[in-house]
Amino acid sequence: MQANKKLSQTAAHSRLTIAHTVVAVICLCLGTCFSAASNPETASVIPRPVSAEYSEGFFTITPATRVIAKDKAATEALKLIDTLAPAMGFRLELVTCSEPQDRFIKFELSDKLPQIGDEGYMLDVTAKSIIIRANQPAGFFYGIQTLRQLLPVSAFSKTKAKGVTWKVPCVNITDHPRFKWRGLLVDPARHFIPKSALLRFIDAMALHKLNSLQIHLTDDQGWRVEIKKYPKLTEVGAWRDETLTGHLHNGPLRFDGRRHGGFYTQKDIREIVRYASARHINIVPEIEMPGHARAAISSYPHLGVFPAKQKDIKVWTRWGVCEHIFAPRPHTIVFLQDVLAEVMQVFPSEYIHIGGDEAVKNHWKASEEIQALIRAKHLKDEAGLQSWFIKQMDSFLAKHGRRLVGWDDILQGGLAPGAVVMSWRGEAGGIASANAGHDVVMAPTSHTYFDYYQGLANKEPLAIGGYLPLERVYQYDPVPNAIDPDKVSHVLGVQGQLWSEYIPNPQHLEYMAYPRAAALAEVGWSPKSSKDYDDFLNRLRHHTKRLQAMEIHYRSLD
Ligand code: ACM
Repeated sequence: MQANKKLSQTAAHSRLTIAHTVVAVICLCLGTCFSAASNPETASVIPRPVSAEYSEGFFTITPATRVIAKDKAATEALKLIDTLAPAMGFRLELVTCSEPQDRFIKFELSDKLPQIGDEGYMLDVTAKSIIIRANQPAGFFYGIQTLRQLLPVSAFSKTKAKGVTWKVPCVNITDHPRFKWRGLLVDPARHFIPKSALLRFIDAMALHKLNSLQIHLTDDQGWRVEIKKYPKLTEVGAWRDETLTGHLHNGPLRFDGRRHGGFYTQKDIREIVRYASARHINIVPEIEMPGHARAAISSYPHLGVFPAKQKDIKVWTRWGVCEHIFAPRPHTIVFLQDVLAEVMQVFPSEYIHIGGDEAVKNHWKASEEIQALIRAKHLKDEAGLQSWFIKQMDSFLAKHGRRLVGWDDILQGGLAPGAVVMSWRGEAGGIASANAGHDVVMAPTSHTYFDYYQGLANKEPLAIGGYLPLERVYQYDPVPNAIDPDKVSHVLGVQGQLWSEYIPNPQHLEYMAYPRAAALAEVGWSPKSSKDYDDFLNRLRHHTKRLQAMEIHYRSLD
């Protein structure tokens, strides 16, 4: 093998291994290491790019390096400058002239690269220049994330790193995502997540080219978003008297006796949305209905239809599935549509999630009023009423140019025409919906529930249950064979869930998320054909140093 032969990251792993061995032997013989591919810092990009060809040599970033970009590209170029400045201790100068100087980093906006789409990029590093090409700003942003990972780990330091040469290996990368929805869900309803922690979480997502963050804003245990028309939702619904300690299913229930709560003002939400948007992350709000409604009903009891003997409905203090459900009376529909109207004002997302899962129908069954409603609407049963209810929201959101997303329980009684289905109880709901022509996001408990244990339960902090180790996440394929070939494009992507009954603080949120979210990022971004768990683990070992530098409380590798 020639010393200057390019090494393709798309080559079979065995070939790479042989190449590494040969390179290592030559390095030993010559006493000098020439190859980028033999250096873990260079071959450890996560998620793995579609193709990367490394070659001999380096580009070195110094204070004299100029960044060349204009218009939309300049906005992204500034993000590179901002992200490197703390560790490098200098800010690169941005210039708009396109006259190539001796050593430069150039952002080139193109409209002639259909093969990389709206989120893809091409990154060409030679000893003289770094050129990033993209069709859209998101592509530049992802090119920057890759470039950061090609630099020494110290590039992730929050303070000036001393004595580092900022070398980038020569490489030619072409990269674009497999799926358009690469998501995570966080659950501040169960344990409130302060705004500052959410922003940190968004930073970590951006590094992994994850682009969708679903925020579960309402549940039985708390209502977390300010709705100006209904202030009691947060005056009352954002606070619970105490919280269950220990596991729900482990002995007698014990409580901590401490008030818990918090909520995001609409001003907070605008800030979070802006921060995420600058990192090409869409925030999907989730407002739960018709079930998981106890915090709302505790704020405005007339929204429920509970037995008369239950007088003082308080925000729930324990976990599990609560019976309190919205009563689908006309004024409840108006209330929820008012809520969604305010939600749409602060969340520009095309997708608005309305939950729809685990709606226990006992209160509907026991109510003569609700039974009369079912008959009056000529519906078959309570499932039919739930379907009718969801359709009211679907048409309301559609009228405002948005799309309803719901958990796969919304298939009961018939799917609303525009609904996007999030398949969580396995893949069956996703398969049926995609084959019926609905868009779906795959989020099955089996591979994407990051609230499950990631190691042996007796060696891990308390979790809800289950077992979802890193490799199982990595091996997930969001396109099951049972989806008809002509319906595959209805799989928008994949999402990992961080339900927070047993995630009491932001550090623990990071522990449950990483490194599994890094594996999920690769599931969502990288080609299926390049899947190789050993190769991923090798890259991840190096990648954890970046997580350390970012002070992310990830779980150590086994
Ligand atoms: C869910 O986990 N109840 C969607």
